[in-house]
Amino acid sequence: MSLDLDKRQRAMLREMGVRLWQPPAPAAAPAPAPVAMNNIAVDARTERAEPRFDAEVAPARGAPAAPALRLVPAQAPVSRPAPGLQPRPAGVERMDWPALQAAVAGCRACALCEGRKNTVFGIGPAAADGAAPQVDWLIVGEAPGENEDLAGEPFVGPAGKLLDNMLLAIGLQRGHVGDAPRAGLSTSVFITNVLKCRPPANRNPDPAEVAQCEPYLKRQVELLQPKMILALGKFAAQSLLQDSVPELHKIPLGKLRGQVFRYLGVPVVVSYHPAYLLRSLGDKAKAWDDLCLAMSVAPTVAHSV
Ligand code: URA
Repeated sequence: MSLDLDKRQRAMLREMGVRLWQPPAPAAAPAPAPVAMNNIAVDARTERAEPRFDAEVAPARGAPAAPALRLVPAQAPVSRPAPGLQPRPAGVERMDWPALQAAVAGCRACALCEGRKNTVFGIGPAAADGAAPQVDWLIVGEAPGENEDLAGEPFVGPAGKLLDNMLLAIGLQRGHVGDAPRAGLSTSVFITNVLKCRPPANRNPDPAEVAQCEPYLKRQVELLQPKMILALGKFAAQSLLQDSVPELHKIPLGKLRGQVFRYLGVPVVVSYHPAYLLRSLGDKAKAWDDLCLAMSVAPTVAHSV
């Protein structure tokens, strides 16, 4: 089927989830294979991959006329995936806790899987067989760093020590399976990140990586049903609030503080990332204000001060 589409028609098709396919360029000038990551096509040449629907159909200036285009369904791979990469496991939105843990542990949906030592699903108290832990608090950070990648546990480095101290200050203790809570403390807290794998050299998460990982976080929230989510730092805030706050990317983190948002109906309070607080000691008082706000909105959540 041959198509001659203008810009508006292409935009409409994109909106409808219809992807335009174009045969690869002739062998003399081979184009690098895009990696199909569910609905996002990502250029394998760059780590900072961006969606590139238009790049698939727009010929370079001065290039020979494009061959006939044909329609393929949005789910069809545009090309062979890069060696070793696979789509995210299907049905994340219906998984129970053990299935979700297994899906994350085996995930090869973005290039971060190539360099990781461990996936970092999150840490919380023991749970009944097949169930998610019962927790009042969910803490969401950005991504595992080197220490977390080695340990398979979030926030175990210096930023994690600070986080543990912040939690202790409100009567919460990081739970490990088999750990009894210390006197006066509650382990009703689950700690996780937006990304479950470490970005190399601790670079920022890439938008395509965040998009691939987000369904895992969403399912964690659905299964944990926390009473309060504390979003630590820009990436956690953006991931959780992108559907509810217009022009979110233009709003500095500091301006998101002091308000209560909702994610899947759960109250969300935004605060500074502990790694930032290690460098900006003056803002620790503000982080304490954020914890107090979170406690005041959900007065029944486990804590003691
Ligand atoms: N920073 C994060 O955001 N998460 C971790 O697990 C460690 C450091």
